[in-house]
Amino acid sequence: MISESADFKVAVIGASGLLGRAISDELARQTRWQVVKTAFRRGNATTVILDIRDEAAVRRFIAEQNPSAIVITAAERRPDICESDLSLAKALNVDALRFIGTVAREIGAWTLSISTDYVFDGTQPPYHPDDVPNPLNAYGLSKLEGELVLMRTSARSCVVRLPLLYGPVVDWSESAVTSLVPAIMKSTGEDAPATMDAWATRYPTFTPDVAVVVRQLLERCESGTPVNGVMHWSGDEPMTKYDIAVCIARKLGVEAKLHPQYAPVDATPRPKDCHLASDVLESMNMGRRTPFETGIRTVMQNWPEPTIVR
Ligand SMILES: NC(=O)c1ccc[n+]([C@@H]2O[C@H](COP(=O)([O-])OP(=O)(O)OC[C@H]3O[C@@H](n4cnc5c(N)ncnc54)[C@H](OP(=O)(O)O)[C@@H]3O)[C@@H](O)[C@H]2O)c1
Repeated sequence: MISESADFKVAVIGASGLLGRAISDELARQTRWQVVKTAFRRGNATTVILDIRDEAAVRRFIAEQNPSAIVITAAERRPDICESDLSLAKALNVDALRFIGTVAREIGAWTLSISTDYVFDGTQPPYHPDDVPNPLNAYGLSKLEGELVLMRTSARSCVVRLPLLYGPVVDWSESAVTSLVPAIMKSTGEDAPATMDAWATRYPTFTPDVAVVVRQLLERCESGTPVNGVMHWSGDEPMTKYDIAVCIARKLGVEAKLHPQYAPVDATPRPKDCHLASDVLESMNMGRRTPFETGIRTVMQNWPEPTIVR
């Protein structure tokens, strides 16, 4: 029997990405809802190809699908690319949110967009949703502008800021956590030790856990009590990239030569500690936290090649 909620339709824009796939998997288990997914370069039989820089295409897609809710995970999330291509960062992280927000408002769809802890400068953690942002790089600035554009365009919208993500990947480079794996493996040979940042504190957050938060926010929308405004969600284990690399090496069962780097060396400035206080969503009984040891073991086990996972 199809329940009334089969009328509730969710569009996931950017379903082919690291987070979009986790959200799509979570929603696929929520069988009452219709889900329509978009991709850009990595489309398949289950996705609609959509370029969110194309305003007319965005309008056509949303008007045709007429979703009750739109989840936006499409973005340019690589800080170095945003720094070197400001127009791409603006097109994906700012202008596209205006295009989507405009049509969402017209059809009355609730919109959930994903943003980043990099809207803060990392000097005074923990950060609450109404703390004053001060992005240090072009990525953080574009994401902050995107937040403001969406919320100004459509009042029925929610922005969830997240920290460093990891989860099931299709290649190691998909996440800044798993992208450490090749350097870790290389350091087990004759090469010099792999230098790992031990300066910035991160809170690695498992994408399937974020997908639970997104599903819970969609349930609030479906029940007629949507959550609007800026929200934070974060894992609660402070780790530097050096700590993360040590943990991954242990899981791989390799003797890696890792060298901690206690000063920032990135060409693109990054904040030191942007811990996001998640108490607003927690007070609504939302969220789930998978311990990093468990989450990273799942990711490594599902990877086709490696080896010994402990
Ligand atoms: N990854 C992190 O550590 C992290 C941390 C905090 C916040 N966030 C935020 O979380 C969200 C999701 O990030 P992610 O890591 O899942 O990113 P991702 O893996 O790079 O995925 C990006 C998505 O955007 C799509 N896309 C790229 N260009 C497009 C275009 N022109 N038109 C339409 N779609 C396009 C991609 O489609 P194709 O792959 O099919 O081309 C893909 O589905 C972003 O808003 C990001 O800023 C990420």
